[in-house]
Amino acid sequence: MSEKSMVPSRFIFCVMFISMFLLVLSSLFLLQNSSPSLIPRSVLELILVNSSSMYFIPNFKRDQIILPPYPSDDLNFQSKKGREADCQVFNSSQKTSYVGQQMNMASDSTRTLLRVFMYDLPPEFHFGLLGWKGSVNQTWPLVDNPKLVPRYPGGLNLQHSVEYWLTLDLLSSNIAKVGQPHVAIRVQNSSQADVIFVPFFSSLSYNRHSKLNEGEKVSVNKMLQDRLVQFLMGQKEWQRSGGKDHLIVAHHPNSMLDARKKLGSAILVLADFGRYPVELANIEKDIIAPYRHLVGTIPRAKSASYEERSTLVYFQGAIYRKDGGAIRQELYYLLKDEKDVHFAFGSIGGNGVNQASQGMTLSKFCLNIAGDTPSSNRLFDAIVSHCVPVIISDEIELPFEDVLDYSDFSLFVRSSDALKKGYLLNLLRSTKQGEWTKMWERLKEITHHFEYQYPSKPGDAVNMIWQQVARKIPSVQLNLHKKNRYRRSPLLVKAH
Ligand SMILES: *[C@@H]1O[C@H](CO)[C@@H](O)[C@H](O)[C@H]1NC(C)=O
Ligand SMILES: *[C@@H]1O[C@H](CO)[C@@H](O)[C@H](O)[C@H]1NC(C)=O
Ligand SMILES: *[C@@H]1O[C@H](CO)[C@@H](O)[C@H](O)[C@H]1NC(C)=O
Ligand SMILES: *[C@@H]1O[C@H](CO)[C@@H](O)[C@H](O)[C@H]1NC(C)=O
Repeated sequence: MSEKSMVPSRFIFCVMFISMFLLVLSSLFLLQNSSPSLIPRSVLELILVNSSSMYFIPNFKRDQIILPPYPSDDLNFQSKKGREADCQVFNSSQKTSYVGQQMNMASDSTRTLLRVFMYDLPPEFHFGLLGWKGSVNQTWPLVDNPKLVPRYPGGLNLQHSVEYWLTLDLLSSNIAKVGQPHVAIRVQNSSQADVIFVPFFSSLSYNRHSKLNEGEKVSVNKMLQDRLVQFLMGQKEWQRSGGKDHLIVAHHPNSMLDARKKLGSAILVLADFGRYPVELANIEKDIIAPYRHLVGTIPRAKSASYEERSTLVYFQGAIYRKDGGAIRQELYYLLKDEKDVHFAFGSIGGNGVNQASQGMTLSKFCLNIAGDTPSSNRLFDAIVSHCVPVIISDEIELPFEDVLDYSDFSLFVRSSDALKKGYLLNLLRSTKQGEWTKMWERLKEITHHFEYQYPSKPGDAVNMIWQQVARKIPSVQLNLHKKNRYRRSPLLVKAH
């Protein structure tokens, strides 16, 4: 009888002992993983195995993160990892947070994030289009002296000059004295690059050479695109990735029309997706870059305030457009008779630029209405004039929208609403001075993100674009690596 009862109680004792043991173990484990704000750091340090323990605690202050040292016997690995970490940390106030070696460093938005290999295409693809001629075998102009670099033509061409600024920035990235520090640096070995840049000035090629000259069967623009496709298909870099890690600038909506079907796997830098089928270009894969504004930037101190801007709303542009642009005409008839509204025909090229600049700097709101493409240069002219943009373009994609909240400095109006009688003016007239001023202040803060310049400066359009590219790279790499999974598997042998 007593013998029988002994077994269960011993069993119970055993179970209790084991549970106690597990409880102690699990609480130790919990301590290690719980929020540091609940446990003094000194206690954490007592409990944790030093330095070789690898853990990450969300919300931990960055400068307190303890990271395992990289294996020193694999230098290649170390430098690659360091670089990737580099790619991901931008600025402490940005929402992205990644664990990386750089976490301990003070964040700086202009640290090198990206290694770029640039093909040495012959000058006829880039600076040759600007009339530049180097000496025999010279591919690139010297860019040490910013005053002596080949000039980009002014006028309307300038809107789509993205390609030119990016190329100059890369060329100068190895020259210590020009525009340091660089977000992107050029590397000579494509195996060490995060992205491969294709230095074709496609917008300039379209703007200047798409007409057939006498005796020509194909335009220079088409010929260059054909040759570019041929060149790229023959490169080991393209073959390696199927072009997915290539960066191609096609900012003018009509540039690259001939080649784009074959080059659509690349990351494209575009003005909008208006004329692209979604499988060729989309916001996941590609980058929307701002137009180079045509009006001059208003210095902050000279920017007119609410009272000083006598015009309520300003629009100047071509009124009759094909495709989505019909709304311009309808708005014109709705607004043309209002006294504090400027709504006028005509492109702002040539002399119109000064006039438009004056008009925008003295207006509270500037309209951006969909034209024949969803985007237009007008938005960027409005921004640098500190004229609060009113965006009436349902399909528009905006540059840098992952880091900029446009609603902080713009109004968005659905096309269907804008066409309701009185809707637009009611909205603008009922926007209070305080609210407007907040948007105006924000405009002044973000204007520099829309400046293209050489040498580039921290946070300007050139650097913002490189940062966007850096954010695309991890997903490009993920897809490439996934595709590689079975590359060593023997090919299937057909049974009989
Ligand atoms: C952890 O180890 C490092 C050297 O590896 C030492 O400098 C540091 O003081 C140690 N920290 C603790 C809490 O023991
Ligand atoms: C980080 O970004 C914010 C806004 O985007 C900016 O105000 C701040 O100056 C930046 N900080 C650094 C260190 O670049
Ligand atoms: C230009 O390049 C070709 C081929 O690489 C070479 O044979 C020639 O000597 C070079 N000319 C000059 C002036 O460097
Ligand atoms: C380029 O880099 C790869 C990997 O880092 C290396 O194996 C190769 O030898 C390098 N090529 C040249 C020409 O330096």
